[in-house]
Amino acid sequence: MSKVAGVKGMSDLLPGGDVEAFQYLETRAREVLRRTGYGEVRTPVLEETALFVRGVGEGTDIVGKEMYTFEDKGGRSLSLRPEATASLVRAYIEHSISNQEPLTRWFCFGPMFRYERMKTGRYRQFYQLDVEAFGVKGPAQDAEVIEVALEILRAVDLKGVKLELNSIGDKECRPAYQQQLVSYFTGFKDQLCAECQARLERNPLRILDCKNEKCREIARGAPKLLDHLCQPCREHFAEVQRLLALVGVDFTINPWIVRGLDYYVRTAFELIADDPVLGTASAVGGGGRYDGLVQSLGGPDVPGVGFALGADRLKLLMQGRAFAQAPDLFVASVDDKSFDAAFALASKLRKDGLWVETDTRGGSLKSQMKRADKSGARFALVVGEREVAEQAGELKPLRGGEPRRVPFAELPVILRPSP
Ligand code: HAM
Repeated sequence: MSKVAGVKGMSDLLPGGDVEAFQYLETRAREVLRRTGYGEVRTPVLEETALFVRGVGEGTDIVGKEMYTFEDKGGRSLSLRPEATASLVRAYIEHSISNQEPLTRWFCFGPMFRYERMKTGRYRQFYQLDVEAFGVKGPAQDAEVIEVALEILRAVDLKGVKLELNSIGDKECRPAYQQQLVSYFTGFKDQLCAECQARLERNPLRILDCKNEKCREIARGAPKLLDHLCQPCREHFAEVQRLLALVGVDFTINPWIVRGLDYYVRTAFELIADDPVLGTASAVGGGGRYDGLVQSLGGPDVPGVGFALGADRLKLLMQGRAFAQAPDLFVASVDDKSFDAAFALASKLRKDGLWVETDTRGGSLKSQMKRADKSGARFALVVGEREVAEQAGELKPLRGGEPRRVPFAELPVILRPSP
């Protein structure tokens, strides 16, 4: 029979490193988020397509080209979520959270889906840790979420990631700037890549972060939004920077950050890792402020700010670290007659909190010991008639050290790993 392969760009995460790296990231992130008062939310991976069209923006690559959209049996257009912010905003509105509290801190962890051209660090199903804060217009909330992002990176020992910061203005100052940008780029229209020629009409800001060499060269001479911010945007940006400095967060200003989603106003930021393991997918996270999004999705006029970290990219950065853990003990039986005793001892020790493995196939002692070695267990214990009679056995270290005889009753204490 022919095999059925997994979907391109969507990978299986197996035990032995992959899953453990994600678990480590999640655990450390949860600690940081708990300390700052963020609560976990889980929303469905499917949403009405309209949520992303209105939330992320029709003119974006994400919505225009990359969504997995289909009609369900009831004729509704649904999409796999390409990001989490729109979903969390929908949930925030649907559960009338703004009537219950003035400030809401949420996070979620889970798979996102974008039909992208695949390469290192770019997949069609990928995992994000998404963090959002609703309700605060002031710059302290921007500074808090940015610090949380960096604290999470610090907690998983990724200190080489750099924070790049920008302000992309708001509905007061951006339209006039956008017009200037259009007239600037129109002068170079023929030299822009086909994509950017289309962007000129659809989404001129995005030309600023095109990766095409010629477009980049032209963009370097373009007017900068930072020079055209209105007074309130300028003050907000200055305060964000002051507060970040106050809590010791380093950053550089990158005036070319525009972000690939339409909902941003004012603060926009990216977390960039300069590591060849990521190829060109060097952004391990990004976010910003999105005042107006809640309202545009039918909710009250509540501001918001947040970010998402790309867990797959962080996993690549952590490559080479040992995440997989190993059993405390492998229990083997001398022969078939002792199998039950070994099986029961393993069961008892697990109830005492130890990680204990056996070879449920039974078989020769030699093959069981091979299995014990492969399991990576710290110790092995062979159970035979004598051991059962004496309720004691020889504890054999599998990674160097001398064996010693110990009563079974003492095993939970002897083997308990130090915290
Ligand atoms: P984003 O910049 O589109 O922002 O994605 C955030 C991070 O997700 C990226 O920096 C990257 O690490 C990771 N990522 C994105 N696409 C892929 C992919 N195809 N494969 C692997 N990793 C990927 C957002 O999604 C916003 N919702 C962030 C946000 C939250 N803004 C405000 N609140």
